[in-house]
Order: sequence, then C-alpha cells, then structure tokens
Amino acid sequence: MSAMPASLRDEFPLLAAEPDLHYLDSAATSQIHRSAMDAVLHHETTSRANVSRGTYRLAEAADLAYERARQTAARFLNAGSPDEIIFTSGATAALNLVAHAFGNTLQAGDRVLISVAEHHSNFVPWQMLRERTGIELAMIPVTASGQLDLALLPELMDSKCRLVAVTHLSNVTGAWTDVATLVEAARKVGAKVLLDGAQAVQHGPQDVRALGVDFYAFSGHKCFAPGGVGVLWGRGEVLAAMPPFLAGGGMIASVSLEATTWAEPPQRFEAGTPPIAQAVGLAAALEWMMGLDWRQVHARESRLCELLIEGLQRIPGLRLLGPEMSAQRAPIVSFDIPGLHPHDICQVLDTHRLALRGGHHCAQPLLAALGVEVCTRASIALYNDEADIHALLDGLTFALRELA
Ligand code: ALA
Repeated sequence: MSAMPASLRDEFPLLAAEPDLHYLDSAATSQIHRSAMDAVLHHETTSRANVSRGTYRLAEAADLAYERARQTAARFLNAGSPDEIIFTSGATAALNLVAHAFGNTLQAGDRVLISVAEHHSNFVPWQMLRERTGIELAMIPVTASGQLDLALLPELMDSKCRLVAVTHLSNVTGAWTDVATLVEAARKVGAKVLLDGAQAVQHGPQDVRALGVDFYAFSGHKCFAPGGVGVLWGRGEVLAAMPPFLAGGGMIASVSLEATTWAEPPQRFEAGTPPIAQAVGLAAALEWMMGLDWRQVHARESRLCELLIEGLQRIPGLRLLGPEMSAQRAPIVSFDIPGLHPHDICQVLDTHRLALRGGHHCAQPLLAALGVEVCTRASIALYNDEADIHALLDGLTFALRELA
C-alpha cells in the first residue's frame, strides 16, 4: 500500500484548476481522478473499437482493455470471478436489472424486503415489480436518526421473503447498514441479499464475499471515475439462474426464426454496446483506490466529519439528520434549518464557492420518516480538508444572516 500523499486534491484535475472551490457534493458526483481521465484518453486514442465482435487487432485491443476492466472490478469487490461483474450505465441500471431479471423469477405472494431509507433507484423499481407481478413489498422502518431498525426483522423475514434489497450506506444520513445481521436473517429463510453500494464505494474497496451478500451495485461517477458506467456484481450461481433483462446484440447464444437462447453471464446481461471507455476509466480509478491506505483515509474523513458536526451543532435551531459521530457513520451530513429552504441556502453558499446539494435527495420516504420534506447535505470525500469545513461553517453563518 502506498502512503497517503499530503494533499490528494492536486490529483483531481478539476479541483486543481479551481483552488477556491469547496466541493462538498461527492455523494452526488465525486470528482474524477487524473488516472481515470488519462485511461479514457489513452483507450480512445489507441484502442477504440467495439468489443466481443471484431477480429482485427484494434478490436482485440478493445476486448483486452474491457475484459481487464472487468478483472479489476472483480478484485475491487473481491468477487469470486470476473464473470460475476456486469457493466451497466450506473447503479440505477444495475438495480433495475435485478428488479427485472431476478424479479422475473418471483411470483405473486413472494416478498421483497427493502427499507424506508432507500434512494428512489432502489425503491421505485420494486414498486413497479409489485405492480407487474403481485409480489409483496415490505419495508424495514428507520429509527429517529434514520438507521435501519432491525427490531422487526424476525416478522418481516419468513419463508415468503425472497430478497432483501437495501442501501449499504445512506445517501442522506451517512448511516452504514448492519449487513451482518441482515445476511444472517436472510440465510435462515433462503432469501437473497442485494446491497446498493452507490455511496459506499467512495469510501473504499468492498468485499462482497466477506459481506455474504448476493448482489452489489455501484456507479463510476461516485468513485472518482467517469459517469455513464456502473457495476452489478452477482453471485455466479444466482446470475446463472436469471433470465436476461435487456435484449439485443451480444447477449445471445443463438437466434433463429423460432427461438433465441441466451449467452452465459455476464454477457447475458450486457445487451448492446457496453460503456467500453468508461469501464476502462472506472478500472483505472478502482486500481488507484486499491493502492490507498484506507485506514488513513477513514481517519481523515472521520476527523472532518466530526469537525463539521461539532460546528453545525453550534448553529441555533439547526437540526442534524442522522446518527451521532460513530464508526457506523460515513461523512455524509444532512441538516435542516427550519424556515430556510435548502435551495436558498445552497445558492447563498455557492456565492462563497461552496458546492452542496439541497432538496429531497431522491429519498422522499426517508425524509418523510425523519419529519422533513427537504434538507441540505454536505458530503465529504478523500480530497476535502479542514479549509472546506471551515468555509462551510463560515458560509452558513453568512447565509443565516442573509436569509433571516
Ligand atoms: N444519488 C445521488 C445523491 O444522493 C445523486 O445525490
């Protein structure tokens, strides 16, 4: 493992070009690492061709780069095999893939268990599946601080439960999910477990086998890579039992006038031309991440999160949404200031070169459970520093004066 450079900021071209920008919206989109940009440029200028189709040397170079990207993603997740890695356009597409393909193996009366804390991308596809097939959709409630309340798990997890699909890390509260408890309960009744890892991957490589889950979804744009690419990991035997979702070129074994047969995974789930250069860029970002000392990164992220929470707690009337500072918490900090709309707060903060997201964060059921319609969110990534936190606290003091 390499040592942590003093400032990672310089390794991110946009942040290096904008020294006065305080970027605190990495939960929406992280900045792209230089290695990922370089890899995309290199690929597009040396190896651009379609994959799994051509027999000329350029196409073979594209095949090699794309399959190497699959191997890198498999190492990042500690997958059993690169064949368990499906490239998609992002976490949303990955979650929809499972809702359709795995969903097609379910029957009316089967139960899918999600949680109130889900991003809409892991909420709406299951509601739509319920409309299509008559499955039962059950919800794990949340505690007052937005953590999954697993007290009702024994009731919700019986033999009707076929899948538990929950966030690994909340995009609103920064709460990590207690995966071990969920997996243990799911195994007892033979249910599969899906984790939406969209937020989690920004905070380090994951180990899907140690987690004990069956599906894991994430996006490139949230882990220092290009947009337009994501990964669905699925346990080999689970993927093998699923029908395809999208149909088209590349996902078939044979097509005749009478019938079509499917390719094996992962090709079965990669209809059409995949995001090739984006996958190559993603692999470069993942490779870079795998070289970092994550104990140091986490210590730094926690220090900044603590500094921010302490500062926010000094603002009269401000309500923090999410758990107290603890190991179960990632540096995603949302808050509500009664009487002030988050869009107004964010616009005033923007005049101080602070980039934050305000709104419902694509998690309306969670916000409703927390008793708010909208909130303001600061999300900290590995390139942030104390100056960003102090700028935000100063900016908020200014915004409170301006908007009062
Ligand atoms: N899911 C992203 C967010 O939470 C877009 O902002």
